Amino acid sequence: MLLSAFSVLFYLSRAYVASGALCDCSSLIMPVDVDVLVPTDPSDIFGGLKSNASSLRRLQATYDVYGVFCQPHILLVHGFSYNHQYWSTPVEEFGNYSYSAFSCDRGFSSLAIDWVGAGLSSRPANASDAQYATQAAVAATLARQLKNSSIVPGIQPFKKVIGVSHSAGSVLLNYDAIAEGPQSPFDGLILTGMLIVEPNSLPPLPTISAADEDPLRWGGLDPNYLTTTSRNIFYPADPNTFSPRMLKYDNFTKDVGPISTLLQIPITTLPSQYTGPVAKVVGSADQLLCTGNRCADVAALNAAEKVLWPDAKSFEVVVAEESGHDLKLDFFAQGPFNTCVSLVQQFSA
Ligand SMILES: *[C@@H]1O[C@H](CO)[C@@H](O)[C@H](O)[C@H]1NC(C)=O
Ligand SMILES: *[C@@H]1O[C@H](CO)[C@@H](O)[C@H](O)[C@H]1NC(C)=O
Ligand SMILES: *[C@@H]1O[C@H](CO)[C@@H](O)[C@H](O)[C@H]1NC(C)=O
Ligand SMILES: *[C@@H]1O[C@H](CO)[C@@H](O)[C@H](O)[C@H]1NC(C)=O
Ligand SMILES: *[C@@H]1O[C@H](CO)[C@@H](O)[C@H](O)[C@H]1NC(C)=O
Repeated sequence: MLLSAFSVLFYLSRAYVASGALCDCSSLIMPVDVDVLVPTDPSDIFGGLKSNASSLRRLQATYDVYGVFCQPHILLVHGFSYNHQYWSTPVEEFGNYSYSAFSCDRGFSSLAIDWVGAGLSSRPANASDAQYATQAAVAATLARQLKNSSIVPGIQPFKKVIGVSHSAGSVLLNYDAIAEGPQSPFDGLILTGMLIVEPNSLPPLPTISAADEDPLRWGGLDPNYLTTTSRNIFYPADPNTFSPRMLKYDNFTKDVGPISTLLQIPITTLPSQYTGPVAKVVGSADQLLCTGNRCADVAALNAAEKVLWPDAKSFEVVVAEESGHDLKLDFFAQGPFNTCVSLVQQFSA
């Protein structure tokens, strides 16, 4: 989701436990040091990637990053009058929408993090400290930590870390792939809900300062933290293709994001020297990205996107039929779930 999840999911690959094993998740707070150059002007549409030193400023900070770590679990024993669901209680009808659970059930550990500024991670008082340059540095640092230290006691460092992201989260991983190229710590990138976005080419998103939208919750925040006033555009246009309760749930659980991360989406037009495998997954009914039949000709879409990844080990755009922008929140979610898990399998082999 552009403004609610900002999600980035890392896949951690090591010796897999048999598929179908029960999964166990824990919440973590991970302190992350950043020392980055961010654009002095947060409306710089390339996020500083094309800037010289005079238009950048140095930002040194330590942020607490919140994440949920899920791992395949060998043995769980439930108590009297319960069954295995005790360990994986579905939240009403939304149980089937848990991608962490879906992939964990298939033997993959994952860490789903909150962006700096969102969820339970640190929120810089000044939204211009939470630009893509910062977010990408945080994500790359965490990926390196996962590969060289133990995230929770008893868990060995991971040999491979694959970045799975959605929407603005995909711009974030794209930023790191541009900034670091072959030095990127990611062993593969699965960028969902994002394509090349030329400046001013997205339909307008209904946004508002979070402080104005909900003063009780967000009063006092820097007005450059925004939220949405409606989330319909994240779903297919046909209202029969998603649960109206999902839209309500989405509205009630929405979060905030820095304005810079909307303004800097044209980062997606810049080439990357990244050398790992890359896939983009987008819904054919995405009302933000697939307008004007853009996603109808999959071969043409692949050709247009591939030029920015000349050194990638492999590159592919998958168009998920009928899915909307938020591929995991409508009735077609199982399709993209399967696509992503098989890409993770392929990239971690
Ligand atoms: C640095 O970038 C600024 C703004 O884009 C430009 O005005 C200036 O001429 C550039 N300086 C150098 C030394 O390239
Ligand atoms: C939802 O999950 C249950 C249990 O995992 C499964 O049996 C069912 O087929 C799923 N429903 C859909 C629509 O995918
Ligand atoms: C945020 O930081 C920038 C750069 O230091 C500064 O120009 C701007 O005035 C700050 N904004 C607020 C609201 O403090
Ligand atoms: C481990 O990760 C940290 C944090 O990114 C880094 O500073 C350090 O150099 C890494 N150590 C090794 C041995 O790669
Ligand atoms: C969205 O949630 C807010 C509370 O956060 C509520 O006031 C509003 O009525 C909800 N809108 C819809 C369309 O459900």
